[in-house]
This record gives sequence, structure tokens and C-alpha cells, in this order.
Amino acid sequence: MKIIETVSEMRSALNTARTKTIGFVPTMGYLHEGHLSLMKRARQECDIVVISIFVNPLQFGPGEDLDRYPRDLQRDASLARDVGVDFLFHPSVDEMYPEKPLTQVKVSKITELLCGKARPGHFEGVATVVTKLFHIIMPNRAYFGLKDAQQLAVIEQMVRDLHFPVTVVPCETMRESDGLAMSSRNVYLSDEERRQAVILNQALREVKIKLQQGQFTTAAEVNQYVRDRIGSQPLARIEYVETLAYPTLDPLHTLTHEKIIIAVAVRFGSTRLIDNLLFEGR
Ligand code: PAJ
Repeated sequence: MKIIETVSEMRSALNTARTKTIGFVPTMGYLHEGHLSLMKRARQECDIVVISIFVNPLQFGPGEDLDRYPRDLQRDASLARDVGVDFLFHPSVDEMYPEKPLTQVKVSKITELLCGKARPGHFEGVATVVTKLFHIIMPNRAYFGLKDAQQLAVIEQMVRDLHFPVTVVPCETMRESDGLAMSSRNVYLSDEERRQAVILNQALREVKIKLQQGQFTTAAEVNQYVRDRIGSQPLARIEYVETLAYPTLDPLHTLTHEKIIIAVAVRFGSTRLIDNLLFEGR
């Protein structure tokens, strides 16, 4: 595995590989099994696997965790090498943003709720950096996790709207043994917060069973149930619980849409966790 730090080296390394299938996994590092599952999938489906590790300042708001975002390049490099990654692109902030950019990619509507509402400018930062990375790597296939279902919807919309020649591949959420969705931010949790954080997935799993039993008719009933269950944990502060059509993120009254997402964001102390359940409506 080769570690590359500049745009020009990254481009020339892939220059001779253009006849092959290039798979790309963008990340912010501090890799866990969720990230690695994307890389393993890329390894199975592509000739060349490129990952990026770049903590993108553009997608962090003022007062967010940019400075304390966990980083460990050595460990990340060894994990990536073990799953068969060919190139690890690890640019500096100056390399990616040599001057203050005047150009940003903005996807409207679906960025105006959920995490986009709670984190103004976040998805512009994501769409802009992913555009830059796509232009540098020019992958055939790019792998994104359903853990960040809104981000996935934004990237898929952008790729369609702007005719990016890339296939976006959605990948299942990887979880700890108690169900907590894996996240680089889980390391911020205290022992007690970590114990209580399992309620996100627990509430969603309970809803899944109740949906199968036909116990809910409206989105509002689902939201109320999830709010009550998450609210039972004293350290949990709910940011949002929403049941929407996916991937349009249109509001729903009854649960009759083809594909539905229940999306939650909850704070434990200063740590913000998200999770979701996707299911087929009636
Ligand atoms: P990051 O949070 O590092 O996530 C990188 C990729 O891993 C994303 O596609 C994310 O959805 C996926 N991922 C995270 N946790 C996962 C889990 N538990 N199971 C499966 N996949 C998981 O998302 C970003 O970085 C950034 O916004 C980025 C797209 C790199 C742009 O800066």
C-alpha cells in the first residue's frame, strides 16, 4: 500500500490504471470496522482500491469537534493495508485548500433538515470535498455507509444532478455487539454515556418489531415511541427524531411510502450520535 500526500502524485499514480476499475472510499480516518467493511467491499468489486483520510475543515461548524477529532494515521495505515487497500490518500489541509475556496457545491432541499438543519453548512462542506476527491481520484465506484443515510442521499443526488461518472455503492451499517453503530466519535463517550448510548439502536430495533406487528399507523406515532424510549436514558438529549420518505426526505403522515427512514440524532454530553432504520412501508 502506498501513502500519498499530494494531489499531483495521486493523479500520476492512477494515470496508468485508468483501464482498470478504481474503487474509492472517502473517510476522515480513525478507522473502525464500519470503514473497513466499505474497503473490503471495494476490494471484492474493484481492481484498485483507493481510500482517503482527510478531516475536512469545511464540513465542521464553529464550536464543533474539528480540533479534537480523533486521528491515528499509523494505526489507520496498518488497518487499511491489512484489508488490501492499494493507495491511501492523506493530503494536508493546505494541499486540499491552497487558497480560500470561492466555489462550493450546494445540494438544496434534502440538506435543509435533519443533520443539515442542526449543522448549517455541513453538507456543503461534504459535497464540496467529495467533489474535489472525485476529481482527483476519478473512481468508477465510490462506497458510502448507510449509517450516514442523509449524506448518502446528498451524494447520490449530487452525482445524478452533475453527471459524475461514478457509481455510488451504499453499504450496511456496522455495529458493536450491543448494537451501537460504529463511529469514530464513540471514543468521546464516558463509560456511563457509552452504556446509555445503546438506546438509539435498541429503540429502532423495537420499532422494527412493532412495525412488523402492525402496531404503528402514522409517522407521528413512531416518532413519539422512539422519543419516549430514548428519553428514558437520563444522559440522552434528543436533537431530532424524524420519520420521512427516503431518499427524498419528504414528510410522511402514514407509513405507506415505498422506502421510509427513521433518523435520530442524540447528544450525550458533548458527543453527538446518529443512527437510523430504513424499512419498506406498506
Ligand atoms: P467518516 O465519518 O470517516 O465516514 C466515512 C465513511 O464510512 C462514510 O461513508 C460513512 O457513512 C461510513 N461509515 C461510518 N460509520 C459506519 C458504520 N458504522 N458502518 C458502515 N459505514 C460507516 O463520512 C465522512 O467520513 C465524511 O463526511 C466524508 C464522506 C469522508 C467527507 O469528508
